[in-house]
Amino acid sequence: MKSTISVIKADIGGYVGHSGMHPALIEEGEKRLEEAKNKGIIVDYHVTSVGDDLQLIMSHTKGVDNSEIHGLAWEIFKACAKIAEEIGLYGAGQDILSEAFSGNVKGMGPGVAEMEIEERPSEPIIVFMADKTSPGAWNLPLFKIFADPFNTAGLVIDPKLHGGFIFKVLDIKKGNYVELKCPEEMYDLLSLIGAVENYIIKEVKRYDGVIAAVASVQRLSLIAGRYVGKDDPVMIVRTQSGFPAVGEVLEPFSLAHMVAGWMRGSHWGPLMPVSIKEANCTRFDGPPRVCALGFQIKNAKLIGPRDLFDDPAFDLTRKRAQEIADYIRRMGPFEPHRLGMEEMEYTTLPDVLKKLEGRFKGE
Ligand code: F6R
Ligand code: MG
Ligand code: MG
Repeated sequence: MKSTISVIKADIGGYVGHSGMHPALIEEGEKRLEEAKNKGIIVDYHVTSVGDDLQLIMSHTKGVDNSEIHGLAWEIFKACAKIAEEIGLYGAGQDILSEAFSGNVKGMGPGVAEMEIEERPSEPIIVFMADKTSPGAWNLPLFKIFADPFNTAGLVIDPKLHGGFIFKVLDIKKGNYVELKCPEEMYDLLSLIGAVENYIIKEVKRYDGVIAAVASVQRLSLIAGRYVGKDDPVMIVRTQSGFPAVGEVLEPFSLAHMVAGWMRGSHWGPLMPVSIKEANCTRFDGPPRVCALGFQIKNAKLIGPRDLFDDPAFDLTRKRAQEIADYIRRMGPFEPHRLGMEEMEYTTLPDVLKKLEGRFKGE
């Protein structure tokens, strides 16, 4: 059976500031998705939040880029934005960048990760959701999951994984992409994806073309042409029997690697894996968080979720993330805590620099 998982998310108002989510928005999302389920538009759903982002996790049989599914999410975000405005939530309607919906939310503000799969008899997937960072945050973990034999034991010892994986890499500024096969083209792949603000892994397929992972690649600043918050990405990863195991997929997140985002979308900081109840971005509006919800998919129903970072096995990572946060915060406005000048172009810094323009003199 073919089923589709659609994760569509947006920041439509924060509580308090940009730190978290008001329960009224979750309730509105649940109410509307329950109605859509009863009408047979979707098969199943789960609504949650990570930091200030509302996450709509939907399963259905309509394929990716379906206008009914995208329209449903769009209407929910608009209704939630109205509630956010009424109760004075912060930045109400932030990610609704356009009023005119034309069948797809891509390019309109929300982030989207969707995959259509031929369901296996048991289909374990993980939905990752991050706050206070950008889509490049997935590059390092995706590489480790699907191409690093020191991370994924199955690449070495499971014949079903031995054929390798194909990475679809998007040049975010030019808008074109290249497909690179690992392990054969591993060095070429790394030469691109280490530049996380330029090249973003959009999709991973197994050597036989079967879809393994999809990530959201929307970049708000490039859509809006100015700073409107970071893009707080999501991704969906298939696991087990022919794909990396759940534990191999979670393993790269034990590093708390450095990602771009955090305060004012302008700082490098550690990505801290947390449970949903701990996904509240407080210290310096962060540090950046990642949550992982596991589901079994059966006949397009979502069995779950299990909150996979709700585990003491990640305590040491969380402590390390806090130590890194403490260390790098001491650098204040100095690089490399603050992003490089090219990335600062999309923040509010150019407005400040404009003031100084006339005051530079020849040496
Ligand atoms: C980062 C983020 C926050 C805000 C910061 C300033 O993605 O959303 O760190 O950038 O709180 O917010 P404003 O400019 O709305 O006061
Ligand atoms: Mg926000
Ligand atoms: Mg956010």
